[in-house]
Amino acid sequence: MSTSTPSPAPIELRELEALSPELLATVTRDFPFDDFRRLRSVAPASALAHFAEELAKSSEKPGTVRLVAFDADSGLPAGLLLLQRLPYDTDLFGMPMAGIPYLLVRADHPAPRVVWASLLGELPRLVAREGYVHVSARVDSADMHSYQALTDANFRLMETLVSMTYDTERRGIEVLDPKEYGFDGVVRAVEPRDVETLAELASRAFTLNRYHLDEHLPVRNAGVMMAQWIRNYCADPADHQVWVAEGLGGKIEGFLGHALNRGLERHSGVLVSGRALLAVENQRSGVGLMLSRAHTWQSLGDYKEADTQLNNYGMIKVSFNLNMDMVRTKYSFHAWFGA
Ligand SMILES: CC(C)(COP(=O)(O)OP(=O)(O)OC[C@H]1O[C@@H](n2cnc3c(N)ncnc32)[C@H](O)[C@@H]1OP(=O)(O)O)[C@@H](O)C(=O)NCCC(=O)NCCS
Repeated sequence: MSTSTPSPAPIELRELEALSPELLATVTRDFPFDDFRRLRSVAPASALAHFAEELAKSSEKPGTVRLVAFDADSGLPAGLLLLQRLPYDTDLFGMPMAGIPYLLVRADHPAPRVVWASLLGELPRLVAREGYVHVSARVDSADMHSYQALTDANFRLMETLVSMTYDTERRGIEVLDPKEYGFDGVVRAVEPRDVETLAELASRAFTLNRYHLDEHLPVRNAGVMMAQWIRNYCADPADHQVWVAEGLGGKIEGFLGHALNRGLERHSGVLVSGRALLAVENQRSGVGLMLSRAHTWQSLGDYKEADTQLNNYGMIKVSFNLNMDMVRTKYSFHAWFGA
């Protein structure tokens, strides 16, 4: 009697003009790595509906390559990969850059590794055809198959992100007193006159992220990206809040901005304020803790999230000091297709 396992059914790859609702429903059903799965108030079905909507929206962007894997025997969609130009990164770094915003295999697929290998095996041809030289991707650290598949496909790990969250209902809200943080000044909402000061601080504060660590990218430009990020937050107050620590004499000692996730709120009724960007002028002065406290107590939202690199010990310490819970970890990868 043979002890060998049967070889998995073959996979067929197709590039599609559009992703039908049925196809999207099949590949996202029971997707196990949703970003909000650990938030107690968010119903899993709402989180997945939000995930599927974001995927659908992303797939409709002009110029997107939609590579779909099908099981050859049943014709069922097995997984997909989207490849998209990153126009802002391309302009900033002066090279054609793309991202893989979605890369997933159907949750009940019997041979996920085969699907991953098929999708990523096609990538060099697509990247060459589209003229990209640099591609980035991000996956949940629990998604071990995708981690291994990306590594096998010559992607290099660039950063590990951890996300912390403050559960407002469970942890409560109080009134912030800057003096308790040794700060002689105020924490207030951003004003238009602050924006360029914040942008300048952002341009030199963030040194641990993947843009700074990738030797294929001109480092000096990574700060420009962070400056633009906070400018964007300041320019759209309906979906963002920015707090500023203003010391005596009017000097800005730090800021914290964040984005409100309205898409998830529409599906679940739960508002998450996340993608926080925090920087201080003088490190270890207590300002980072104070601004994070302002985020957890003063910002809108049922949950207040902070993402940072696994080796950002200052930020992790701040979050733990505030009783935030770690709810997500992700790996970011880059691949270089240049000469
Ligand atoms: C991360 C950052 C915001 C922390 O702010 P900060 O004002 O330096 O931190 P605080 O002074 O409030 O310190 C809070 C605690 O963290 C500790 N801490 C701060 N920086 C630390 C570091 N680099 N390593 C270890 N512990 C650190 C402090 O000692 C303090 O601990 P304690 O409670 O035991 O006294 C700040 O270092 C910064 O601007 N970094 C660059 C930008 C960035 O990485 N932002 C976060 C990602 S968005």
